[in-house]
Amino acid sequence: MSSDLELPPGVLQPRDAVLNMAPYSPPTGARADKLRLDFNENTVGVSPKVVEYLRQHLTEATLAMYPEYTDTKRDLGAFFGVDTDDFILTNGTDEAIQVLINTYIDDRADVLLLRPSYAMYRFYAELAGATIREVPYRPPKLSFPLEELLEAIKPSTRAVLIANPNNPTGTATSRAGIERILEKAVNAAVLIDEAYFEFCGVTALPLLQDYPNLFVSRTFSKAYGMAAMRFGCLFSQNGNVEFLSKAQSPYSVNSVAAMAARAAVRDKTYIEKYVTEVLAARELLYVGLETLGIPYYESKANFVLFQAGDRAIPIRDELRRRGVLVRDRSYEIPGCVRVTVGTREQIRRFLSELGEVWR
Ligand SMILES: Cc1ncc(COP(=O)(O)O)c(C=O)c1O
Repeated sequence: MSSDLELPPGVLQPRDAVLNMAPYSPPTGARADKLRLDFNENTVGVSPKVVEYLRQHLTEATLAMYPEYTDTKRDLGAFFGVDTDDFILTNGTDEAIQVLINTYIDDRADVLLLRPSYAMYRFYAELAGATIREVPYRPPKLSFPLEELLEAIKPSTRAVLIANPNNPTGTATSRAGIERILEKAVNAAVLIDEAYFEFCGVTALPLLQDYPNLFVSRTFSKAYGMAAMRFGCLFSQNGNVEFLSKAQSPYSVNSVAAMAARAAVRDKTYIEKYVTEVLAARELLYVGLETLGIPYYESKANFVLFQAGDRAIPIRDELRRRGVLVRDRSYEIPGCVRVTVGTREQIRRFLSELGEVWR
């Protein structure tokens, strides 16, 4: 795209990369009193033990100090079974993506993405001025396009950014598939974004010591119910982690999030129970959609894409009017709406409203 777009008078010329980017639309406001099935968050909330822990440990003094991460890193390293030198704490996965791009991607570097996928990969890659190539998910089931991706990897490819399972398709690849990508993309930072790991169970973390080009991210925004606090981790071999740390702002993770994460990983039962509930609700959702005659894509995560034909936007709007939020994805997969899976009770309510709207 050209960089000589006409700017309004008095506006300072930004970098070309910023000028050419499409703006990202964050969530609409006024979501708190609605059934939030639009952003794949935990639909119940964080573990009460996290709130209790924060009540006990947040003091005037702790809030006045710059964050210290030693205790959090020790607890999380033990939880994930990795050395404290093998990961950084991040301000959500979004910062993990940003730090990875800032560490490895120069202007015009070749970055491979899949389509459709999580919007922030393109966002940060475009911001860095990368040359982006995209490999489409494979129709008709939107399955992971392993062979096509392998074919697209070049010796000059500097990053391959993959969500596994992917948002919004809900589809995933196996650990063996990931290994084939790592073996081919030898000169690239390969990010496996495991934001929905808890619902799927497949992880690339055990491959960390075998592949120096592997980066794995995890978030506390989804199953853990900590989206408001913005907390995640980015794992790699310690040689890479040194450079990631160098490219990261020193206090990007706030103390409240760092404290909360320690309490969150201690309450394993809470997460296990929530995941079990979501997986049961996902089955209920499949049955409900089938009863309504609505086609859907099978998912490995806490959301499901369904086909609303040419009614995706009106259905989203009518559900919102009834207090149920879902996400239109028809702009990237024709006819598709994405619904987050919460509890069975929440999915029963969704199905009942959808049933009325669908008729
Ligand atoms: C694949 C994927 N990665 C990352 C995120 C965002 O994670 P965080 O809240 O940790 O930045 C999302 C959120 O929708 C996602 O779908």
